[in-house]
Amino acid sequence: MSENESLSKPKSVILTCAQPTGNLTLGNYLGAVRNWSEMLDRHECYFGIVDLHAITTPSEPAVLRQNAYQCVAQYIACGLDPDKCHQFLQSHVIGHTELAWVLTCLTPIGELQRMTQFKDKAAKLGFKTAETDSPDGEIKFSHEGARAQASINAGLLCYPVLMAADILLYNADLVPVGEDQRQHLELCRDLAQRFNHQYSETFVIPEPYVPKTGSRIMSLADPTRKMSKSDDNDRATLFILDEPDRIRKKIASAVTDSGSEIRATADKPGVSNLLTIHSGLSGRPVAELEEHFSGKGYGELKSELTELVSESLAPVRSRYRELIEDKAYLKTVLAQGAAAAQKRAYKILAKVYRKVGFPERERN
Ligand code: TYM
Repeated sequence: MSENESLSKPKSVILTCAQPTGNLTLGNYLGAVRNWSEMLDRHECYFGIVDLHAITTPSEPAVLRQNAYQCVAQYIACGLDPDKCHQFLQSHVIGHTELAWVLTCLTPIGELQRMTQFKDKAAKLGFKTAETDSPDGEIKFSHEGARAQASINAGLLCYPVLMAADILLYNADLVPVGEDQRQHLELCRDLAQRFNHQYSETFVIPEPYVPKTGSRIMSLADPTRKMSKSDDNDRATLFILDEPDRIRKKIASAVTDSGSEIRATADKPGVSNLLTIHSGLSGRPVAELEEHFSGKGYGELKSELTELVSESLAPVRSRYRELIEDKAYLKTVLAQGAAAAQKRAYKILAKVYRKVGFPERERN
């Protein structure tokens, strides 16, 4: 390929999103946001703050509004330079829910009921899926589950379709996510293929990009569960804005395993998680860290990790403090991001509507 050809070749499109349901966790950082910042120069990047998704679980309007600004400030503080990417609020761009509706009409309900994250969230609302799963994997609402069923909104069930629309609305080539979003990505790919098959070639089939280290950071209190923003135990989750003292307390109380050897093995989920976090931040392979900690105790691992987490996140914390004071700047970033996102989204939505058979509106 000549230099001119390579210059004229469009950059591949990256899209990914996070929910503004609270501050970003170390899981969000290592599994997602930190890796996005490394992609800015090579790709055309769209980063969404998905507030429409956030209302699938109970939310306070004032808190949701504030979270949107906190989220964009954290994105920028983590290295997402607004001059090199488009950062937008999902609710600012027309097309996400419109495309989601078209895709909903291609999605069997059973596929949505089989989604692990839906089952987990339904279980959290008091519905015991394990006891009532039917052999085909669909949730059957038992008599005892009736109350829980009433409290599970249809948005929670349709969540993965809206997520597919977020991606396909931009015809994204690559979607960087943590391990927990892989199943949703699979559904998105299936829906894109289904649409292309039914209405002719329209969507790019997006590829997931899941980092090798950090794609699944576990809870400090229960290393068999994913680290999550909404954990009731406030020692379970490290947030990227945590002050050093909170980081120290949380890591000091992190669950470790029996024995004293520092190794990342299946029977040592707590120690493995701490080593993964270390590796994600220090860039040193886990095997090298096992060597480094050979003959040392859990106390040494925890104190070195505390130092590492505090120091690595210090620039993020201080940049965030400046940014959150400048709401006007954050609003400008979101307005510019939404304008760029809308431009691309309209084109793809118009194409989809045409293919589905919706007549074009006449301009007066
Ligand atoms: P959300 O907001 O839960 O998380 C944002 C990103 O962080 C990753 N992540 C983790 N990675 C490693 N370890 C963890 N413990 C951990 N927790 C979260 C997630 O995988 C994600 O990449 N449904 C999505 C938001 C979404 C989206 C999209 C993502 C909506 N539309 C379109 C990509 C493309 C979610 O709830 O992410």
